[in-house]
Amino acid sequence: MNRTLVILKPDAVERGLIGEILGRFERRGLTIVAAELRKVSEAVAKAHYAEHEERPFFADLVAFITRSAALVMVVEGPADTWRIVRSMMGTTNPADAAPGTIRGDFATDLAENLIHGSDGPDAAAREIALFFPGLS
Ligand code: RTP
Ligand code: MG
Repeated sequence: MNRTLVILKPDAVERGLIGEILGRFERRGLTIVAAELRKVSEAVAKAHYAEHEERPFFADLVAFITRSAALVMVVEGPADTWRIVRSMMGTTNPADAAPGTIRGDFATDLAENLIHGSDGPDAAAREIALFFPGLS
């Protein structure tokens, strides 16, 4: 089996979209193998988004992802789970996201775009270890 890390960002939780988004993963045939509603710490947020450290939006991104509870979870499928999740999310900028994708159906804002998904197998392994150390 094959796993990826997904975060329903604070805007998704605040807007009451947990059920809608989780339902899409379940109907697609993916399995939620770990999930926790938690306020992400600043240290974990900075480690998670370290690749964007030098970007002008980094401080705003850390403030956003830590502002209230997020639903952090590990999603499992038979293969290429990260790719399936990313295609269901839609493009980073919701203005470009196709209808039928999560961002294309529910988001309008580049920063507050509802969901994170690991962008490859190495990122998935690193992010699962960061958010769920000890998950077997
Ligand atoms: P994510 O990492 O959250 O799954 O999103 P992504 O791969 O689609 O996009 P990425 O380029 O990694 O950007 C990370 C998150 O930073 C916010 N962002 N803000 N203000 C801006 O210009 C800007 N650009 C990106 C978004 O929340 C984006 O998802
Ligand atoms: Mg990313």
